[in-house]
Amino acid sequence: MKPLKIGILGLGTVGGGTFDVLTRNGNEISRRAGRDIQIVAVGARNPERAIKRMSGVAIPVMSLEQTVASPDVDVIVETLGGYEPAKSLILKAIANGKHVVTANKALLAMHGDEIFSAARAKGMIVAFEAAVAGGIPIIKALREGLVANRIEWIAGIINGTTNFILSEMRSKGLPFETVLADAQAKGYAEADPTFDIEGIDAGHKVSILAAIAFGIPLSFEKAHVEGITKIQAQDIRYAEEMGYRIKLLGIARRRENGIELRVHPTLIPAKRLIANVEGVMNAVLVKGDAAGATLYYGPGAGATATASAVIADLVDVARLIDADASHRVPYLAFHHDRIGTEPVLAIDEVQTSYYLRLRVDDKPGVLADITRILADNHLSIDALLQKEPDEGEAQTDIILLTHETVEKNVRRAIAAIEALATTRAKVVLLRLENLA
Ligand code: HSE
Repeated sequence: MKPLKIGILGLGTVGGGTFDVLTRNGNEISRRAGRDIQIVAVGARNPERAIKRMSGVAIPVMSLEQTVASPDVDVIVETLGGYEPAKSLILKAIANGKHVVTANKALLAMHGDEIFSAARAKGMIVAFEAAVAGGIPIIKALREGLVANRIEWIAGIINGTTNFILSEMRSKGLPFETVLADAQAKGYAEADPTFDIEGIDAGHKVSILAAIAFGIPLSFEKAHVEGITKIQAQDIRYAEEMGYRIKLLGIARRRENGIELRVHPTLIPAKRLIANVEGVMNAVLVKGDAAGATLYYGPGAGATATASAVIADLVDVARLIDADASHRVPYLAFHHDRIGTEPVLAIDEVQTSYYLRLRVDDKPGVLADITRILADNHLSIDALLQKEPDEGEAQTDIILLTHETVEKNVRRAIAAIEALATTRAKVVLLRLENLA
């Protein structure tokens, strides 16, 4: 069979990794795909660096524009990242009759609808396994392996940088800034680390997962996104004392009145497998009504791990390229004319449990006032921890864990607690998921 000819845009971490793994495992991959996968062009902004990166392998290096126009290329592998020029190049590649494999979660989360529509109109494949959780085949699992299930919820550690930071803060007691600098030095963080630490990267990924899991449109702009910059060492410590770990989770959950789509630091019971996913590793827990809970664990970033996902997509293209487009798996798992209309719920309507840290005067009646406010707002206490005040201090920390409730009840209760004369600081709110 004739080879599949690919052009790679960008020979950075992911593009370079794809080049390495295809070179290293080409024979084995070809035995699986039923045809060779040949790199026939590399599009680079800096051709000299690309030539050096290929250390002697003679593949034509050209401009990005030339690569997407090259008549030799069947598939464009976009590993540039960012919105532009990636989006224009992908749309040009599709218009030129090329299939696309991309690792670009930000682009798909924001402009996926436009890209998939253009690809559908031209009969082109757009594959993106590498966009979510690097080397973990979570897109394949959700789109194909779990196709029989009505998915109830997904909860994932889908940003390695923040998981590394939280792990180091907990295990070594280091402050946030020190660990972030280390993560950047190790090359885990995005070019703009605010995408990692503010939860935006995880937001992009969970909105892709939610679309595939529930058959809803890509809805990043409706997601509630919070990062880890406000996490304090004492909350990590208190959570641990109460049997929990704090993880940045991407959560998508089906409710009767809509879909919860949220990213935020979350307390989860320390005994759960996912609570023990440490460092840059990723994990995604999927609850389906038929399969039950399934857990996917692995490296969420890195050159060869992400290349593994890119090449899996290339092999799919190699197998499907001659098949009728109607035989392909839909881009977002559901047929585009059967997309659901369930609303994404505002954060006020989300139902979960809560960790509240209160700084209050240590004197009689304070706790009674607080519990009255909680009761008035339909909040039920699951656990309560009162810390001994420091020597000579007249104030103390009270930590409350609540049973599940609607977030607006908690907001109302917090406003009333903060209005008490005996409350000495803003209440710290973190969400808690049992993931049972
Ligand atoms: N910055 C991302 C992370 C890389 O830390 O997980 C992969 O998307």
